[in-house]
Amino acid sequence: MEEQKKNMLSLIQPTNTPHLGNYLGAMRNWVKMQNDYNCFFGIADLHSITIRQDPVKLRGQIKESYALLIAAGLDPEKSVLFVQGHNPTHAELSWVLSCYTQFGELSRMTQFKDKSAKHPDNINAGLFTYPVLMAADILLYQADYVPVGQDQLQHLELARNIVQRFNGIYGDVFTMPEGYITKSTAKVMSLQDPSKKMSKSDENTNASVWVLDDRDTIIRKFKRAVTDSETEVCAREGKDGIINLMSIYSAATDKSFEDIEREFAGKGYGEFKLAVGEAVADMLAPMQSEFKRVFADKSYLEQCMKEGAEKAFKVSRKTLSKVYKKVGFVTF
Ligand code: TRP
Repeated sequence: MEEQKKNMLSLIQPTNTPHLGNYLGAMRNWVKMQNDYNCFFGIADLHSITIRQDPVKLRGQIKESYALLIAAGLDPEKSVLFVQGHNPTHAELSWVLSCYTQFGELSRMTQFKDKSAKHPDNINAGLFTYPVLMAADILLYQADYVPVGQDQLQHLELARNIVQRFNGIYGDVFTMPEGYITKSTAKVMSLQDPSKKMSKSDENTNASVWVLDDRDTIIRKFKRAVTDSETEVCAREGKDGIINLMSIYSAATDKSFEDIEREFAGKGYGEFKLAVGEAVADMLAPMQSEFKRVFADKSYLEQCMKEGAEKAFKVSRKTLSKVYKKVGFVTF
């Protein structure tokens, strides 16, 4: 690993298969980062149990998510690809950081409030301290940049506050992380309600396109996408459904909005929707076939996970032992 490169880190939750928004907003961009940064990408299995999970399903999803990282083009030789729970330092640092995080700060987290409202029967302590564990993920690897979506910015801000507080007491222990927002990232909205983000937990099965959906399913979902009562493919105010389809099409084909308007001038929505569905299916096809290959090779997958965990641990334990020394624990 080269010293002069900056560190980049992000994790995704293994709950549910990633959707088109996760692919365009996260995974696809990560692949481009591999040469310019020391990259750490992980599967946040520890975070996922803040909501009750079915163990059998979860185990499958962790493997699936990990295989998808590789299938999307992340190279386990270039980037550190790891499962959070394989590295004990995450839970360990999280405990220490929780003693440097205020109850009031965590109470203000909007995601905590949202999730508590959604699962009133299971407002567990892990849900509350979720952002502390996320801070540990980031700080263990001295990440300079953290690519995250809008919904995680408040958590990142909390991590920055923890850094300031901790470093203020003990000196330069943690690197101050910054959000890495790519402006080229398409924001993908629900196909059934274009005012909402495409979401993993949407109950309407036509609202989200999963990255492992087969070609026919993808095309069918796009055919059913909610648009408007007009006929013109253009990015005008009030045409949120069409704008969403245009930005997906643009992300899949690299065509500009002007190109798209020209291409579909005088053509109806039906033709446009079909083209978007086909373009998305084409875009995902190589990853899907690579996924099949990787996922079927259990020993390769396991080997990658093991090596990823070792590489991750090698970096993170340095940070952890520094922290233990600073706070006054006895270390050997
Ligand atoms: N909370 C993030 C999400 O739901 C996932 C996550 C866990 C994460 N740890 C992280 C993202 C560290 C960035 C950095 O999307």
